[in-house]
Amino acid sequence: MEVGSRKSEVGSSTSEAPDTLDEVDQELDSLDQGLLPTSDFRLPTDRHEPVLYEEVLDGLNPQSGGRYVDGTAGRGGHAEGILRRGDPDGQLLALDADPTAVAAVRVRLAPFGARTAVVQANFSSLEEVVRAHGWDEVDGVLLDLGLSSPQLATPERGFSFMAEGPLDMRFDPTGGTTASDLVNSLTEEDLARLFYEYGEEPRARRLARAIVEARRRGRIDSTTELARLAERTLGRRGGIHPATRAFQALRIAVNEELDVLAATLPRVVGLLRPGGRVAIIAFHSLEDRIVKRFLQREMTGCVCPGKQPVCTCTHQPTLRAVSKGAIKAGTNEVRRNRRARSARLRVAERL
Ligand SMILES: C[S@@+](CC[C@H](N)C(=O)[O-])C[C@H]1O[C@@H](n2cnc3c(N)ncnc32)[C@H](O)[C@@H]1O
Repeated sequence: MEVGSRKSEVGSSTSEAPDTLDEVDQELDSLDQGLLPTSDFRLPTDRHEPVLYEEVLDGLNPQSGGRYVDGTAGRGGHAEGILRRGDPDGQLLALDADPTAVAAVRVRLAPFGARTAVVQANFSSLEEVVRAHGWDEVDGVLLDLGLSSPQLATPERGFSFMAEGPLDMRFDPTGGTTASDLVNSLTEEDLARLFYEYGEEPRARRLARAIVEARRRGRIDSTTELARLAERTLGRRGGIHPATRAFQALRIAVNEELDVLAATLPRVVGLLRPGGRVAIIAFHSLEDRIVKRFLQREMTGCVCPGKQPVCTCTHQPTLRAVSKGAIKAGTNEVRRNRRARSARLRVAERL
């Protein structure tokens, strides 16, 4: 599919869902990396190919008898892998904020019977969910961040700027603030900050001003209304759709993704038993920076300011690196699954 036809699709009121998986993957990719949709293969929309599958399983190294948590079960690809590698009696507690994902994962993991439980919960409450399950410590935790291909492919979820749908973007659509709430209520200043900080949109102010002006004529409630407004305001420059960064920013804000991640990482470490492992896949630099800095700090003894001559912080390292830096997908995986292109996996072990 060419950019020209994509442009008219976005600009028209009859635009459709990105109903091929490559389109879905490419929009995920463009959301994460600013790439251009270019092809048109037909695949089922509810497929989600787990990213860095072997690398995650090698990193977590699930064992029979071990207890594992998947905080972002999605479609259950990694979850199933953890259970298979942990044969015959490794156990897995799987969480997802999205009730649709939870329903799909329950079906997928049903053959593993009592070895697994699937809970609808935000991973911000991972500690409580793990304890409610009767576990004090675990042997591994996986966080595969962001959204899944099926979520992007479902127009009613409002994640896609290519598909007509409500401006929603909640991972858990049963409560909380929607993207439409933010777009229609934030001040121009706050909208500009949101697009700049979470979307790294260089023309954040211009877009915020246009939104506030458009609001005087009526609410902006649909994905394509916002996409068209971004296109009219920012024009098409280079490869990515002009709404790309705004959509990423809204999704991060709606789900409080960065704050939730930063608050959850120490709780994960608190749950790991010595030798237990955490594996985290990030898809954009904002979340990868949080993961990287957290892991670096936890692998370090003294965290006193650089100029201080004597250590006074008493900080003790809690983790050691399993992966050296970030693990990235190889060319074969990226060729097969473009979504893997922007993935960064980091793995660490509890001391
Ligand atoms: C990239 S997908 C995970 C795919 C999964 N690893 C698989 O193999 O199918 C990310 C999933 O995490 C969920 N998610 C994102 N943030 C979450 C959070 N804070 N709490 C719980 N689930 C979250 C999303 O709803 C989505 O289903």
